[in-house]
Amino acid sequence: MELALYAPGLGYYSAGSVKLGPGGDFVTAPEVSDLYSRCVARQCAQALGGGGEILELGAGTGRMAAAILESLAAGGTLPERYAILEVSADLSQRQRERLARLPRELRDRVVWLDRLPERPIQGVILANEVLDALPCRRFVLTGGAVRELGVALETEPPAPGAAPILPDRLVERDGSPDQALASACAELLGELPAPLPDGYSSEICLRVAPWIAGIADCLERGVMLLFDYGLPRVHYYHPQRTAGTLRCHFKQRVHDDPYVNVGVQDITAWVDFTRVAEAAVASGLDVSGFATQAAFLLATGIESLLAEEADPVAHARLAGEARRLLLPGEMGEAFKVMALTRDCDLPLEGFALQDLRPSL
Ligand SMILES: C[S@@+](CC[C@H](N)C(=O)[O-])C[C@H]1O[C@@H](n2cnc3c(N)ncnc32)[C@H](O)[C@@H]1O
Repeated sequence: MELALYAPGLGYYSAGSVKLGPGGDFVTAPEVSDLYSRCVARQCAQALGGGGEILELGAGTGRMAAAILESLAAGGTLPERYAILEVSADLSQRQRERLARLPRELRDRVVWLDRLPERPIQGVILANEVLDALPCRRFVLTGGAVRELGVALETEPPAPGAAPILPDRLVERDGSPDQALASACAELLGELPAPLPDGYSSEICLRVAPWIAGIADCLERGVMLLFDYGLPRVHYYHPQRTAGTLRCHFKQRVHDDPYVNVGVQDITAWVDFTRVAEAAVASGLDVSGFATQAAFLLATGIESLLAEEADPVAHARLAGEARRLLLPGEMGEAFKVMALTRDCDLPLEGFALQDLRPSL
């Protein structure tokens, strides 16, 4: 997953495919509608309190950054700086082109970083669909033991007398887990309420803790908002979810074979939000909110934003976009929002309608 997504010049996020949007492989909530980013902006405005800065991790096409800046400018609550940390060179280029179209007053506040800031910030850190792109490890339970699911190269045996014509192909093989995976799985299995059946496979993201720790170090005071599809641990590792959550996105189609289209398709896994919360607490952050995307958008006023649109044609279009963001069968339930805070006791408005923290 690491190589397929990030190998220099070859990985999905390192090479030049379109990736996001209608001509790409998948569509994220900020690409569905600016209503989404305008709701996020409302939460940012409350958290910024008229100062501070925003740091966005993995900003995609830059559309969310543009909509947030426009929305904060309209409300007179612009941050001093809007920093973007992006690992993909071509997405970074798309962000620069998109944000160059903003008025000077806004675009002058945007900077691109090539690593996390050395001086901790006061303000808001945003990551929309970034956690699901962190490479995870896969495991399978066989005869009571944990085996790691890995990749091998298989060469098709040529027909007798014929020259080999088929290329080698990647196939799945299980092997012994290393110490890190073995102990993480032992800990996980030990705390689940129900035993998992033989043959059960899933994934575990050991990158979450160091990733959260690194970002937590950058937050002196304020709020980190994480948006992603995911579940609390007991639902994620439910005995009936026997094949995990790893999915691939290729030309707007979703499938579960990471061994095809290598380097030109996205590979993602759902987020174990209990793991995120544990990592946050270990890094000295407070878990101040956890809600579905629908509850967050309703609490930050998506309905009033929709009602402001007077033009009937534009209103109908926006209403369709809002349905896609809100409905349980679309993005409303599967996507969650988590707020991690440091030195911030605001009652965050995005979480006023729902508190799913007890499920973590
Ligand atoms: C699924 S896209 C989401 C893009 C955008 N946030 C959106 O919602 O439209 C994942 C983004 O995270 C970036 N990314 C992946 N791993 C990252 C990391 N470790 N740090 C920062 N950005 C990362 C990708 O290049 C891409 O911009």
